[in-house]
Amino acid sequence: MSASAVDRYAVLGHPIAHSKSPIIHSAFAAQTGQRLSYERIEVPLDGFAEQVRSLIAAGYRGFNVTVPFKEQAFALAQRRTPRAQAAGAVNTLMPTPEGLLGDNTDGAGLVADLQRLGVQLAGARVLLLGAGGACRGVILPLREAGVAHIAICNRTPGKAQALAEAFGVTVQPVVPTSAFDVTINATSAGLSGALPPMPPGAISAQTFAYDMLYASHPTAFMQHGAALGARVADGLGMLVGQAAESFALWRGVRPDAEPVLAQLRAALKA
Ligand code: ATR
Repeated sequence: MSASAVDRYAVLGHPIAHSKSPIIHSAFAAQTGQRLSYERIEVPLDGFAEQVRSLIAAGYRGFNVTVPFKEQAFALAQRRTPRAQAAGAVNTLMPTPEGLLGDNTDGAGLVADLQRLGVQLAGARVLLLGAGGACRGVILPLREAGVAHIAICNRTPGKAQALAEAFGVTVQPVVPTSAFDVTINATSAGLSGALPPMPPGAISAQTFAYDMLYASHPTAFMQHGAALGARVADGLGMLVGQAAESFALWRGVRPDAEPVLAQLRAALKA
């Protein structure tokens, strides 16, 4: 390689034009003095494995993977971290001498963001709304952060039941319940401005209501939580947090999420 060659990384998805990952990783690189490039690559829907192989052959050092390829990335990985194994999905790939490593940094990003927000996770009672990939991916990292109890409530109860059996968490029917310390919206309901079904009592003034979605304005879930007196946050910090974990895996250097989050927040509001 020539002296000017930089290590290349990319985010792979379809569609991908909206991805903020290049902005985030460029900011991390500047902050930590790492020389690298980071691109968005739109991968054909039927060509994920082939594209990854050819990018690795071209010298790429790592990838983030987003919708709809996280399960295919899981299948393609030759080694997986325990948190990727538990998630059943991979958002971070890295070629290594021992084969293609698959990780999942989404849950760690959530945990890091909750800690940044001052949420006490040790001993907390947590309610997860939703039972899709986003929900599945955060269960192990929340447990590792010391939460005492996880309940799942989902529109389709059978999917919550399947996760409950896989992870030994409680299925929370939509009936009045005792208070939760942290209630997390892991559904895509808010994309249409709707609230996901949740048990009465899911959010109180003592709850931290966290929406994995984010927008330029408070989401419907955040507005609902704030009206009930809860502290609220959206998922922009989780996005930056998962990127920081990927960056740390690839580069061996942990960036500071806070200034990059502030930069993204300002751009989102502008
Ligand atoms: P992701 O990977 O983002 O988790 P997913 O696997 O498609 O995406 O899961 C989406 C989740 O959002 C599911 O829990 C889904 O509920 P169902 O299991 O009943 O489909 C939930 N969801 C999506 N739209 C919703 C809505 N309008 N109201 C309530 N839940 C919704």
